[in-house]
Amino acid sequence: MREVVLTGVKPTGMPHIGNYFGAIKPAIDLAQKGQGEGWLFIADYHSLISLHRPQELNQMIYEVAASWLACGLDPEKTVIYRQSDIPELMELNWILSCLCPKGLMNRAHAYKAKVQENKEHGREDLDFGVNMGLYNYPVLMSADILMFNATHVPVGADQLQHLEIARDLAEKFNNTFEEFFVLPQAVLSEKTKIIPGIDGRKMSKSYGNHLPLFEDAKSLRKKVMKIVTDSSAPEEPKDPDHSLLFDMYRFVATPEEVKAMEKKYKEGIGWGYVKQDLFDALERLIQPMREKYQEFMNNKDQMDRILSEGAAKARPRASENLRKIRKAIGLSR
Ligand code: TRP
Repeated sequence: MREVVLTGVKPTGMPHIGNYFGAIKPAIDLAQKGQGEGWLFIADYHSLISLHRPQELNQMIYEVAASWLACGLDPEKTVIYRQSDIPELMELNWILSCLCPKGLMNRAHAYKAKVQENKEHGREDLDFGVNMGLYNYPVLMSADILMFNATHVPVGADQLQHLEIARDLAEKFNNTFEEFFVLPQAVLSEKTKIIPGIDGRKMSKSYGNHLPLFEDAKSLRKKVMKIVTDSSAPEEPKDPDHSLLFDMYRFVATPEEVKAMEKKYKEGIGWGYVKQDLFDALERLIQPMREKYQEFMNNKDQMDRILSEGAAKARPRASENLRKIRKAIGLSR
């Protein structure tokens, strides 16, 4: 069977370096190096669950598209499109909803987290702040995946449950009607978990410990200089295996540079020098991408063109599949 690698990203603004190594790069590599097809979409319907400010949403859609394009996604090799350009997804979303036991959604973790939060706040209404979009989130995500017969779905660990749900719904459909859907497989990137932020916890926007990917060089340097270190003196030998700076350096430096740095650690090196080397390696990686990002952001027409071309490839596939699905469930004449 031909491999179909598909993933979606929610437009949440500029990605950070953790996103780059944990999600963007592995997904691009997987989609472009494989023999099969690569699909990437901007999950803007999903964003409506929590974002009700039109201009902000619109801006974020462009930011995420520009980010992936700047990071090397080649629209000739990978189909890039907006989820909302494929309205057929809404119909599949409904069809899958009608196969989905309500209890399955009760157990979905984003919903459960909300309920838990309400409990902790002593709220009487445990569904406070939960809209139907949030509740149904995994069904729409299943539609995204199943519509294009994806075989491989690169995701973070937090999305594994959703992939299970997609497989459940696919099986339910296949057993109820006819063998139609491929059961998708999650592809986890091993590096996702270990990218530290500047305080040593996992890099995350919500912790405020992240290095935004396309921030200007000056602010990036400032943040790198703030990375926490111990108070050992410059001449003291240091342990590369227990050093946040070194953990980060490994991601961006060449193997030779890593070796050289290891040696310097053992001989003793001031943290300031390590930080400067880390910044230089980061800048080497980011600077060309930052320029491309700016170019795309200054040329939204070009992005519109790319996204429309993507939709023009994706939509016929979706409508053809939907036609077959309608036939399978008895909705066709
Ligand atoms: N839920 C995913 C996330 O938050 C985004 C997403 C939506 C997705 N639909 C998808 C990912 C389909 C993979 C496949 O990261």
